[in-house]
Amino acid sequence: MEKREELYRGKAKSVYTTDDADRLILLFRNDTSAFDGKRIEQLDRKGMVNNKFNAFIMQKLEEAGIPTQFDKLLGDNECLVKKLEMIPVECVVRNYAAGSLVKRLGVEEGIKLNPYTFELFLKDDAKGDPFINESHVVAFGWGTAENLVRMKELSLKVNEILTKLFDDAGLLLVDFKLEFGTFHGEIVLGDEFSPDGCRLWDKETRKKMDKDRFRQGLGDVIEAYEEVAKRLGVPL
Ligand code: TMP
Ligand code: ASP
Repeated sequence: MEKREELYRGKAKSVYTTDDADRLILLFRNDTSAFDGKRIEQLDRKGMVNNKFNAFIMQKLEEAGIPTQFDKLLGDNECLVKKLEMIPVECVVRNYAAGSLVKRLGVEEGIKLNPYTFELFLKDDAKGDPFINESHVVAFGWGTAENLVRMKELSLKVNEILTKLFDDAGLLLVDFKLEFGTFHGEIVLGDEFSPDGCRLWDKETRKKMDKDRFRQGLGDVIEAYEEVAKRLGVPL
């Protein structure tokens, strides 16, 4: 499948049309952004690592019964996906307190959340991805109440599957963000799953192995992503 024209350029990926109206190509770039795109840097190998990481995770999720947009890897930096109508809402599941939850509620980083939490954010960098609730999604027409039920159900199922997968690799799945869209009316997991959009800590040392290394200037960002990939058995 060949790329035709750039349909959309995101902060870390570009989306291309193909000659199939139902399929798109995602190109994972080396751009790494934080703080709603206010800081962007190029990190060598990041596009390749995230593309392969995402392919591995999406295939695991498909095998476990989660409908995803992923079709197949096309090369080091590209994959073929289904063309979804994206819902501009970010679903965040948290197992341990970190990031904006710590800031918003003033709780200690690292405390176990029992049970997990499920939060929604509007995907809008210019507004700083504001925290929203289900009634906003329906009132403003970003998604239906039925869409939300399915998005929550799938997010929690992803949490179960991936918590176990990362635990077996000696990692805590602290939190993660998912985006969904519809494909011929069905809710399907879209976007990507990579260390850019989740928090992963070493189980023993609690060393941060995700994009917080970039956000917090901790260094060795891609080295950490590669270490996670190696522990999971992702072929790079
Ligand atoms: P937060 O603590 O900043 O709300 O982020 C929670 C999780 O969601 C964390 O793993 C990072 C991820 N995330 C994104 O990938 N993109 C975003 O725009 C936001 C707000 C969070
Ligand atoms: N993905 C968002 C950004 O690039 C938020 C983040 O990851 O910090 O700004």
